[in-house]
Amino acid sequence: MIQPFSMSFVSLTPPSPLSAFLNGFVRSFVRSKRFNFIFSMVIAVNDQFPGPLLNVTTNNNVVINVRNDLDEELLITWSGVQMRRNAWQDGVLGTNCPIPPKWNWTYQFQVKDQIGSFFYFPSLNFQRASGGFGPFVINNRALIPIPFAQPDGDIVIIIGDWYTQNHTALRTLLDAGNDLGIPDGVLINGKGPYRYNTTLVPDGIQYETINVDPGKTYRIRVHNVGISTSLNFRIQNHNLLLAETEGYYTVQSNYTQFDIHVGQSYSFLVSMDQNASSDYYIVASARFVNETLWQRVTGVAILHYSNSKGPATGPLPDPPYDLYYKEESINQARSVRQNTSASGARPNPQGSYRYGSINITDTYVLKVLPPATIHGKVRATINGISFVKPEVPFRLADQHNLTGVYKLDFPSKPLNRPPLMDRSIINATYKGFIEIVLQNNDTTIQSFHLDGYSFFVVGMAYGYWSKDSRGSYNKWDAIARSTIQVYPGGWAAILVSLDNVGAWNLRSANMDRWYLGQETYLRIVNPEENGETEMAAPDDVLYCGPLKYLQKEQQHSSASQVSFFGGFLNLFTFFLIAIFISG
Ligand SMILES: *[C@@H]1O[C@H](CO)[C@@H](O)[C@H](O)[C@H]1NC(C)=O
Ligand SMILES: *[C@@H]1O[C@H](CO)[C@@H](O)[C@H](O)[C@H]1NC(C)=O
Ligand SMILES: *[C@@H]1O[C@H](CO)[C@@H](O)[C@H](O)[C@H]1NC(C)=O
Ligand SMILES: *[C@@H]1O[C@H](CO)[C@@H](O)[C@H](O)[C@H]1NC(C)=O
Ligand SMILES: *[C@@H]1O[C@H](CO)[C@@H](O)[C@H](O)[C@H]1NC(C)=O
Ligand SMILES: *[C@@H]1O[C@H](CO)[C@@H](O)[C@H](O)[C@H]1NC(C)=O
Ligand SMILES: *[C@@H]1O[C@H](CO)[C@@H](O)[C@H](O)[C@H]1NC(C)=O
Ligand SMILES: *[C@@H]1O[C@H](CO)[C@@H](O)[C@H](O)[C@H]1NC(C)=O
Ligand SMILES: *[C@@H]1O[C@H](CO)[C@@H](O)[C@H](O)[C@H]1NC(C)=O
Ligand SMILES: *[C@@H]1O[C@H](CO)[C@@H](O)[C@H](O)[C@H]1NC(C)=O
Ligand SMILES: *[C@@H]1O[C@H](CO)[C@@H](O)[C@H](O)[C@H]1NC(C)=O
Ligand SMILES: *[C@@H]1O[C@H](CO)[C@@H](O)[C@H](O)[C@H]1NC(C)=O
Repeated sequence: MIQPFSMSFVSLTPPSPLSAFLNGFVRSFVRSKRFNFIFSMVIAVNDQFPGPLLNVTTNNNVVINVRNDLDEELLITWSGVQMRRNAWQDGVLGTNCPIPPKWNWTYQFQVKDQIGSFFYFPSLNFQRASGGFGPFVINNRALIPIPFAQPDGDIVIIIGDWYTQNHTALRTLLDAGNDLGIPDGVLINGKGPYRYNTTLVPDGIQYETINVDPGKTYRIRVHNVGISTSLNFRIQNHNLLLAETEGYYTVQSNYTQFDIHVGQSYSFLVSMDQNASSDYYIVASARFVNETLWQRVTGVAILHYSNSKGPATGPLPDPPYDLYYKEESINQARSVRQNTSASGARPNPQGSYRYGSINITDTYVLKVLPPATIHGKVRATINGISFVKPEVPFRLADQHNLTGVYKLDFPSKPLNRPPLMDRSIINATYKGFIEIVLQNNDTTIQSFHLDGYSFFVVGMAYGYWSKDSRGSYNKWDAIARSTIQVYPGGWAAILVSLDNVGAWNLRSANMDRWYLGQETYLRIVNPEENGETEMAAPDDVLYCGPLKYLQKEQQHSSASQVSFFGGFLNLFTFFLIAIFISG
């Protein structure tokens, strides 16, 4: 079956309804004037912000044509989607040459042995701060059971902090060594807060309404696609029954509120079991911040029962209060465990994989510090190295026998030397079973993401990790996922089975730190490669940097979108056409 799907990434400018609310949003938080002349532009996909749902089934072959009508280079990455044997489609600079402005490029990959909730976003140049993100759902095949009753509906909620300044302006701030400061708001599905308090929220802001029927149970997939703010998610009077995190089924437990850190995805089963005497608030509020200063930075949407008797009123449901209970959030994170008897994408149970009894082959202790000045510029580091952006994808360079484009000497533990800029990556061993300890000596919470893999989160705590910390590891039902938070002054330990060949990005999911160099790659090569463990580069591979001479010109597509928008300035545009072929 071929299911054609077409997407375009465009900017929206006034007088579209989207801009109207964003202008309202800008007005409310930046100036108290009418919104004339204050135009906030976003990167939208197929005229949608957030972008449309890519809804596929395990083992589908996915074909997505991306046309870049931005004025900048573009790559789309698929957070949490594993691209098995096929890093050529991962959409970061170490795996792909960027798609030049006005060019198109076709991603082709199979979504293999994965089920769950993921998202896509533009990976270059801080573009995610302007939008371009959207949900990516991989469904189970009909013969694979799910560990809960079929929900009555599927709802995606995309949350994230939002700055009214665009991604180029935010880049300028970071380049000048500034902190981004407090965001202007938290968006829920691209919209501003419901007016829950007439002092805090001005009139006229468009907010999100989630429509439900009483007595039904919905699977709500929540993604934090923001820049750097950890968010607490809660729905007034409703339990969140946690069911999945980034592709793995969890032990199902109820929470009244849940912390979702930057780059993370969760599914909750929510029963509409209230009496609908009114609508209910859906809240995403900043975590670990001074409530007084951040009060205005709260995302509020509405849960509306079809038999609701009136609007939501009264105060928002309380945020977690951890002034005297610092461990609340970390304890909640530790309570997320894998349902080892639930089946995964394959018919065999995930629990048969006894990760706890496999010997660790290598340990990497990766430490992050607050940003430091290197050669007069503020940079962020891992083990003292601030990553220099690749000029050419690493495996492409390997195939063309280029030398000197990267180093394989990434230190496996922090070194006692001044921080430096380098393009140093990890020489990881194919089929190794490695332990990565993320030690956060920065002052803010960080999340880390590994492309190409899911990993077991075996431990996390405050303080410094030592070999003795291994005694506290969860060796039985640790959750597997691809993005993990690390609390300031704390650590998290993950185990990864290196069975996916390629060069895979390991990065801070917090965009400011990532932009400033907090990333590296794991290069995993089968020494006996025979074309089975790593796919060949696709025929239409793009060339750049030292290989640019191999790139054929592409005919520029006509700027048909400009007329569509009736002559408005159209800075951010790109198109996606996706086809899913069942495999
Ligand atoms: C996504 O695909 C699944 C399986 O094909 C289907 O049941 C579901 O209705 C689709 N969801 C949406 C929002 O289209
Ligand atoms: C785990 O999955 C099994 C199999 O689908 C299911 O029956 C069980 O309810 C789940 N257990 C929990 C605690 O979520
Ligand atoms: C971003 O905003 C600045 C003004 O703050 C403007 O000069 C610049 O053109 C904008 N960038 C884009 C890509 O729209
Ligand atoms: C609205 O917020 C302000 C500022 O925090 C607070 O003083 C006021 O009591 C709130 N109003 C209501 C009706 O809750
Ligand atoms: C979770 O809460 C719902 C009510 O909202 C309840 O029906 C259900 O039994 C609870 N499940 C668990 C596993 O506690
Ligand atoms: C509906 O539920 C609310 C909160 O639990 C309660 O205060 C209210 O009395 C209930 N209303 C009716 C009509 O049952
Ligand atoms: C929060 O910010 C307010 C306003 O700046 C300040 O007065 C207060 O001391 C701060 N609270 C904490 C706990 O830092
Ligand atoms: C793991 O290591 C232990 C001790 O180092 C050794 O006895 C055991 O055979 C190893 N297990 C495997 C599966 O290699
Ligand atoms: C790279 O080197 C290998 C082994 O020496 C050789 O077979 C291959 O043709 C070279 N590739 C290119 C593109 O030069
Ligand atoms: C990378 O590791 C392999 C063993 O896994 C080793 O043979 C090779 O020499 C290493 N390369 C470098 C440059 O250190
Ligand atoms: C960072 O490390 C220094 C020195 O080891 C320590 O004094 C400081 O408390 C640490 N800070 C955090 C946030 O971990
Ligand atoms: C992509 O570019 C090719 C080559 O210029 C062109 O033939 C094709 O029509 C373009 N596709 C889209 C969807 O723009």
